[in-house]
Amino acid sequence: MLEKIKQTADYLRQRGGEMPKIAIILGTGLGNLVDHIEDKLFIPYSEIPNFPVSTVQGHSGNLIFGNMGGRRVMAMQGRFHFYEGYDMKTVTFPVRVFKALGVETLFVSNAAGGMNKEFRVGDVMVITDHINLFPENPLRGKNYDELGPRFPAMTEPYDKKLIALADSIAREKELRLMHGVYVGTQGPTFETPAEYEYFRVIGGDAVGMSTVPEVIVARHADMRVFGISVITDLGGKDITEVPSHEEVQKAAVKAQPVVEAIVKAMVERC
Ligand code: HPA
Repeated sequence: MLEKIKQTADYLRQRGGEMPKIAIILGTGLGNLVDHIEDKLFIPYSEIPNFPVSTVQGHSGNLIFGNMGGRRVMAMQGRFHFYEGYDMKTVTFPVRVFKALGVETLFVSNAAGGMNKEFRVGDVMVITDHINLFPENPLRGKNYDELGPRFPAMTEPYDKKLIALADSIAREKELRLMHGVYVGTQGPTFETPAEYEYFRVIGGDAVGMSTVPEVIVARHADMRVFGISVITDLGGKDITEVPSHEEVQKAAVKAQPVVEAIVKAMVERC
């Protein structure tokens, strides 16, 4: 694994120009954030050694280097999901590469189903914490001390200062910004009504099929993390709407301007 990380990092260092301190993982329907990146260099995943190729519609696979708000950034347009069949080491491999390239702060975005009764479709939620319900932890197996500790603390998975910054930006711009706990599940099924209720009972506000593995690895590697979810559907015993991938994408695209405004302002100021 160490050799693979080095190989991929060396390749990207050769191609990407100045290396950024900030990386952004763009989730479902949120790929348009790349329009805010200037002087872009697109590198298709297929050209990157050791990178898998994303298989889901709506997820294009490109690594992008460029500038946002005067800062050098790199962005993943399309991520690797556990439900696609990748193992956890593959899902989180790009985060290992980010760290090797010198990235210190990771932004992650995703689409999620809302269980919190105050949430509406199209709301944007800052992730304040998560519950890992994936069947496997990406850190299972041999620990490489060069990458991080065997038993990493998860006391502050999402950086409190970055959350406060997001809140102040939302206040300034008069944007509705919710807070909540993200429940990470393997998918690819959406939840049954009873499952949405259950996730609410255990403390979740939103549920999705990504993000948690990448955040675990980023925290293992001592990167600061900021996470944001777009609430694309609601779930629970009183909800009769049937979620679909198309609806999720549509709702995500609609909420995108809010995510864009917040992430862009954060990159400028963090
Ligand atoms: N459940 C799981 N993942 C999701 C959902 C959902 O309701 N919406 C978007 N991603």
